[in-house]
Amino acid sequence: MKRREFIGATVASGLTLAARNGLAARQSKLADAHIEVLLEEPIGRIAPEIYGHFVEHLGGVVYDGIWVGENSKIPNVNGLRKALVDAFARIKPGVIRWPGGCFADSYNWRDGVGARKDRPRRPNFWIDAPEWPKGVPDGPWRYDTNQFGTDDFVRFCQLTGGQPYLAANLRSLTAKDFYEWVDYCNSPAGTTTLADMRAAHGGAREPYNVRYWGIGNESWGCGGNFSADEYAIEYRRFAEWAPRYGVNLAYIGSGPNGGDLAWSRKFFGKLAEKGGFGKLWGWGLHHYSWNVSQGRTTDWFEGKGEGLNFPDVEHYELIAHADQMESLITNHWAVMGEFDRQHRVKLVVDEWGAWYKPGSELHNTHLLGQQNTMRDAVLAGLTLDTFHRHADKVAMANIAQLVNCLQALFFAHEDKFAVTPTYHVFDMYLLHQGAESLRTQVSAPRASYTRAGKPATIRGLSASASRKDKLVTITVTNPDLTQTRETEIALRGAAIKEVKVITLGGGNVKAHNSFEQPNAVGLKEGKAVLRADGAVTCSFAPASVTRLQLTLA
Ligand code: AHR
Repeated sequence: MKRREFIGATVASGLTLAARNGLAARQSKLADAHIEVLLEEPIGRIAPEIYGHFVEHLGGVVYDGIWVGENSKIPNVNGLRKALVDAFARIKPGVIRWPGGCFADSYNWRDGVGARKDRPRRPNFWIDAPEWPKGVPDGPWRYDTNQFGTDDFVRFCQLTGGQPYLAANLRSLTAKDFYEWVDYCNSPAGTTTLADMRAAHGGAREPYNVRYWGIGNESWGCGGNFSADEYAIEYRRFAEWAPRYGVNLAYIGSGPNGGDLAWSRKFFGKLAEKGGFGKLWGWGLHHYSWNVSQGRTTDWFEGKGEGLNFPDVEHYELIAHADQMESLITNHWAVMGEFDRQHRVKLVVDEWGAWYKPGSELHNTHLLGQQNTMRDAVLAGLTLDTFHRHADKVAMANIAQLVNCLQALFFAHEDKFAVTPTYHVFDMYLLHQGAESLRTQVSAPRASYTRAGKPATIRGLSASASRKDKLVTITVTNPDLTQTRETEIALRGAAIKEVKVITLGGGNVKAHNSFEQPNAVGLKEGKAVLRADGAVTCSFAPASVTRLQLTLA
């Protein structure tokens, strides 16, 4: 079915006025939730970079996922899996982060450039991870062959339309190695030895003009186990000088682990002490949602739940954990503002998503691979809505990770390929990219469940809205597993001419796609009613994500 065909339109113009008024009265009584969009209260432009992605040399992300090799029988473009390149380009990635993650702080960019046959094999950072299932064969996921390097990554970005965001190795390489990587990527054709090296061996003559550079990753953990004070010194050493070549370089500092406000406060304090923030453009916040649940410990490894066969309570607990994103953003923002009063530095949530325990991965070489159900789609919708509501603070976000790992958008193994429910959310939400976020007020009953024998609740509906010219896009997720929410939606400040709705899921929170059933979950036409009084009514099914497109009169 073509995309256009399943985007349905429900326009009230087919009803008589009397019928519309009767319906309006009935629906007003029925509505148990309300969403009000305030057109006159813009929050900020939704940066396309919020629709960012993350590619790490980890399990099946690069090898088997993206890179199949130039001589593969699997359809490819310069060695890159064609099916993935095409599907990815369709959802317009704003930015793509590479090569890690923890891997970044063990990676030497020189290993991945030059003649492919001469590239060294190295142990991958993740080689000894406790999550590896027994009996996994050796391969590039354990001993990296470096067949996929900087030039291949940049080509992947060019083919899919995402801007490259490179994470520099701060733990085990020097500042000189970092600025030489900048030189390799950005020096004009024919100017430096590294520009010549880029032009040779299938690289590019013209510079890549990479703007976004991460200065280390999780420097409080795998990226060096530094204290915030120590990291500030290392950061300054790296950030002090690099050749600009006319590019407005934007550095992303290795920010806090979740709610560690002390890390943010110390780092910003140290930079302020020495006179300011220089090229620090973003502060990287990481927040994974785990399944800490009844009887489980909060331990990093033991605390995770099932990816597919999860009890209801784990669904709610996971969404509750994901929903902490809102306070993480506002709390770190407040701390940053103590030192950076103009808020020149923005938040970059460069790792987010669901993280389950091993067992639901589609192939045993896909370390940290996991199934992706409607629960993940709800999590993605709710989190993107949160970023929109804070469009003035969040300048970039990167879901972890693109393929075969954590909250993936794609599954790929050998010649098999499928998109996940999370992919469909990114597809649906596309219209928000670059639009003006609008203040949106939601009033809905909370979703209730039982946790360790006691009643508990999480946020009911979650929503956000944005405007581009005459188009207002509203996205809504319903995390409740049993309750449909009959909702009345009002726009303050304009009249609506037409409403179109598409929706994902509804009912079965465990619905998912697989290689055998790649289209079990997909976008469907939805319904809404435009009433004579100008309001819209729409019902949101349990465990669903919905987009309404309102054309203004
Ligand atoms: O995404 C997997 C890992 O999670 C990343 O490598 C690391 O940065 C984080 O701890």
